[in-house]
Amino acid sequence: MAIITDEDAGGGRVCPYQMAFMLDNWMRRLFQNPVKLLADYIREGNTVVDLGCGPGFFTIDMAEMVGSTGQVIAVDLQPGMLDRVRKKAFRKRVADRIAIHRCHPDRIGLECTADFMLAFYMVHETPNPRSFFEEAKSMLKAAGKLLVVEPKMHVSQASFDTMVEDAVRVGLKPVDYPTGMGGRGVLLAHG
Ligand SMILES: C[S@@+](CC[C@H](N)C(=O)[O-])C[C@H]1O[C@@H](n2cnc3c(N)ncnc32)[C@H](O)[C@@H]1O
Repeated sequence: MAIITDEDAGGGRVCPYQMAFMLDNWMRRLFQNPVKLLADYIREGNTVVDLGCGPGFFTIDMAEMVGSTGQVIAVDLQPGMLDRVRKKAFRKRVADRIAIHRCHPDRIGLECTADFMLAFYMVHETPNPRSFFEEAKSMLKAAGKLLVVEPKMHVSQASFDTMVEDAVRVGLKPVDYPTGMGGRGVLLAHG
């Protein structure tokens, strides 16, 4: 099995862990408050997956939202990102609710049934969005939802539409196009 290093994780298209400070800081919280953005989707006791969690900007708040009976699975391909999540989870005293999973670029490789999954600013970094959606769908409960948000700076409306088409082709259905997320958003459910 090939060993993925932080450097070669995505052939250059992946946001490197050295840029983690850009993703997790107090300024971002001013315009993207995770609790406000995700309040409609997460309930206490839920199993939640943070796909491409990066340094854990959303992971920690989600762990607080699911409470002591819930669980968050933080997934990323870069060990440097996952180390940050692990340390922050201990500092914020939610480590017992967070499972850390290192994946491969073309395979999430996780067996779970999730109430909610988040893919924030990450689908455009995956090598094959269609197979990513196929695998993500297999991890969703029947009533589960997958929220995808993509950055307008890197993902044009046309590319975003193509990405949503990929999701539809594997049997997911757009049920909402939430605004105010800081990007192009779509909420997906089983079709
Ligand atoms: C731009 S960052 C966003 C991080 C986080 N979601 C946030 O909004 O702060 C994208 C993250 O997705 C991860 N990523 C990229 N491709 C991935 C893949 N195929 N599978 C899992 N994670 C991936 C990167 O390592 C990086 O941490």
